[in-house]
Amino acid sequence: MNKIAVVYWSGSGNTEAMANAVVEGIRQAGAEAALFSASEFSARALADYQAVVFGCPAMGSEELEPCEFDPLFADCEGQLNGMITGLFGSYGWGSGEWMDTWQERTSAAGAKIIGTVIAQNFPDDDALTACRRLGADVSAAI
Ligand SMILES: Cc1cc2nc3c(=O)[nH]c(=O)nc-3n(C[C@H](O)[C@H](O)[C@H](O)COP(=O)(O)O)c2cc1C
Repeated sequence: MNKIAVVYWSGSGNTEAMANAVVEGIRQAGAEAALFSASEFSARALADYQAVVFGCPAMGSEELEPCEFDPLFADCEGQLNGMITGLFGSYGWGSGEWMDTWQERTSAAGAKIIGTVIAQNFPDDDALTACRRLGADVSAAI
C-alpha cells in the first residue's frame, strides 16, 4: 500500500485540524497515512514514504515556524527532488504570502506540488473539505 507522511507544526491547533483532514482524505482514498508533528519526524524518515504533505502556519513575519518546522524542512529539502508533495497551513492577518514563498522554495527543491491549502485561523468546512481533497489528490498522484 502507498504510504504518505503528513508532517505538521501547530501552535494553537488550527494547522493540526487541517492535518487531521488531510489524513482523512488519504485514508478515504485507500492509501496509508502516517501523521507526525515536526518534532517526531526527520529527513531520514522521508525514504520510507512515497509522498509527504507538509503543514505549517504563517509565523514570524510571513515565515515558517522557526524553531522546529523550518529546520526540519531545511533538512528535508535536499531529498524532495521528484517527491510528490502538498502544502497546507493556517494564517491570521496576512494575505498568504508565507505560502507563496514556501511553494517557491519547495518547487526549487524539485518537489512535485500536487496542491496547497490555506485557511484563515481555524479551518472552516470549505477549508477542511479542501484538505481532504488534497490528501486524496496526493494519493492519486503516486
Ligand atoms: C508569533 C506569531 C507570528 C505570526 N505571524 C503571522 C504572519 O506573519 N502572518 C499571518 O497571516 N499570521 C501570522 N500569525 C497568525 C497565525 O498564523 C495564526 O494564528 C494561525 O492560525 C496559527 O495556526 P496554528 O493554530 O496551527 O498554530 C502569527 C502568529 C504568531 C503566534
